[in-house]
Amino acid sequence: MNSYRVNLLVAVVSAVCFACAAQAQPITKAVQAAWIKHDVAQCGYCQSGQIMSATALLQGKKKPTDADIDAAMAGNVCRCGTYVRIRAAIHDARRRFDGAQNRPVD
Ligand code: FES
Repeated sequence: MNSYRVNLLVAVVSAVCFACAAQAQPITKAVQAAWIKHDVAQCGYCQSGQIMSATALLQGKKKPTDADIDAAMAGNVCRCGTYVRIRAAIHDARRRFDGAQNRPVD
């Protein structure tokens, strides 16, 4: 299954499954805060998909590497080229989420 289909599946499951959405909420908040801090969005066209993919990544991996991030986000094309800021925001979101969960960071 290519990453576009994975992202689409995540979007559908999140929309339908309220329990899943409730579980993802703290991660989503951390991702949104990191997105704002790193001023990721330019035109905004791709951002909902980017944020959903980042949230799904952080749900599955506690400490993603740059390669993990690149692989997970590969299905989302950003015409504005925000990839470097996206990667930085994902690392930051992970640290924020770990801090909110009182888990040791790194
Ligand atoms: S922010 Fe413009 S396409 Fe991604």
